[in-house]
Amino acid sequence: MKNKQKILEEKIAEAKLGGGANRIEAQHKKSKLTARERLHFLLDEGSFEEIGMLVTHRSTEFGLDKEKYLGDGVVTGYGTINGRLVYVFAQDFTVFGGSLSETHAAKICRVMDLAIQNGAPIIGLNDSGGARIQEGVVSLGGYADIFYRNTLASGVIPQISAVMGPCAGGAVYSPAITDFILMVENTSYMFVTGPNVVKTVTHEEVTSEELGGASAHSTKSGVTQFSCANEPECINMIKQLLSYMPQNCEDDPIALPYESVEESRPALNDIIPANPNQPYDMHDVIAEVIDEGTFFEVHKKFAENIIVGFARLAGRSIGIVANQPAHLAGVLDIHSSTKAARFVRFCDCFNIPLLVFEDVPGFLPGTDQEWNGIISNGAKLLFAFCEATVPRITVITRKAYGGAYDVMNSKHIGADMNYAWPDAQIAVMGAKGAAEIIFKKEIAEAADHEKKLKEKEQEYNELFANPYKAAEHGYIDEVILPEDTRKKLITAFKMLENKVAKLPKKKHSNIPL
Ligand code: HXC
Repeated sequence: MKNKQKILEEKIAEAKLGGGANRIEAQHKKSKLTARERLHFLLDEGSFEEIGMLVTHRSTEFGLDKEKYLGDGVVTGYGTINGRLVYVFAQDFTVFGGSLSETHAAKICRVMDLAIQNGAPIIGLNDSGGARIQEGVVSLGGYADIFYRNTLASGVIPQISAVMGPCAGGAVYSPAITDFILMVENTSYMFVTGPNVVKTVTHEEVTSEELGGASAHSTKSGVTQFSCANEPECINMIKQLLSYMPQNCEDDPIALPYESVEESRPALNDIIPANPNQPYDMHDVIAEVIDEGTFFEVHKKFAENIIVGFARLAGRSIGIVANQPAHLAGVLDIHSSTKAARFVRFCDCFNIPLLVFEDVPGFLPGTDQEWNGIISNGAKLLFAFCEATVPRITVITRKAYGGAYDVMNSKHIGADMNYAWPDAQIAVMGAKGAAEIIFKKEIAEAADHEKKLKEKEQEYNELFANPYKAAEHGYIDEVILPEDTRKKLITAFKMLENKVAKLPKKKHSNIPL
């Protein structure tokens, strides 16, 4: 028995060494942790149970039969994060550059299947040179097996991808299908074709980091929701992110106990500037309304004219979508619409109630927006809200103009409660534009055009630049003082706690992609 135990111990030690001490050292030199170190920091201490530690590849081409590593370049299994079950895989760059072989893919598929069957989140830590080049098509097949499961798991369990090294070619499509991507600055990149191909085809000179680093994808493309300064920050962010989510689509998000609930927040009364064209930071509104310090912003640096993120209200997890008047006046454009639409759909998949703060002057005009499809992209946000069956509440803090009024979780598209602050202006457009159109003739005929315009602007303002017309129609349930917003929201979300809303029977909808 002693001898057999020794064999087992030797195998475990060998597996834990991955591609060997030298390659581990090379990994550390690049400021990267190994797959096992990452899992050690991610999971609760002592909770990791490994699956498939002794798996090896079955390839024989190019001398691979003589080069085998236990585990075959990916560490898979399950464990807990703050006591909650999660399934994990971490690619091991020290073994064939973390490249994906047939068996490597099978190991990932196995934990994905378990995660789906047992209703728990799956977290993938990606660090890979792509398809195992020596294996050819079986590697490509392995990728497709993963993409297929990513898609089946979508909306069933939360899927989180951290990109902590290379992730290139078709390999990018697994993270892309998952709910959230986190990237680490300077040590990770994602692209469909790398700098060399780009140079050959388009003659552009660009580095990997410029082309597909965390900064590019968190600000320009929006592919990643989170750009992390280093690996420990990335791992911490995964844990934080997870804390707002339920285990699966049939669960509710974890609720924290909360003591003092219904307080007034007088600081909210002073946030909206007297001049309706002056910007203010919607983060200040959010921070005052929610439980202190609980805002976890998603896609922080992308399409900053809309803010999305998770928070807690009276200990409950909520998703916030808010126009940001401090950036492009909070206008809706292509990027802000798609950013918010994806977030709304995530929240709806996983029973996270939605809170909308609205201050929107309309959609962004221009050829760039029209030619790049603001119509179908704006429709995504509209569609996402229309379809969402979770409790939905809107607070109009200032402007709610034009089509954007309808889109931003209006009563008409299924919002449950709609509040407005006394400063709200709910109208087809701003007073000046409106006066110029409807009183065009009168203004042209007046001796003093400017004076007449001002007069008509004033007239339109008095009639429509307030929340009361909308309240008369019942489109606004209540006009509330800003200081009462928190307690109104807590009471309303409690009232909506057992909401049941069903969509008409269908195979699936056809969102304007
Ligand atoms: C097999 C690979 C590999 C791969 C790296 N290695 N990529 N082995 N298949 N795809 C091995 C190297 O041979 C090396 O082995 C070790 O991993 C570390 O690689 P280095 O090149 O020394 O590391 P580094 O300088 O950091 O460069 C990393 C890298 C580079 C940028 C990822 O290795 C690289 O360009 N690899 C090839 C990338 C690629 O073209 N992949 C296929 C893409 S197509 P030793 O023994 O020296 O440690 C694809 C299709 C997917 O992925 C389609 C899905 C639908």
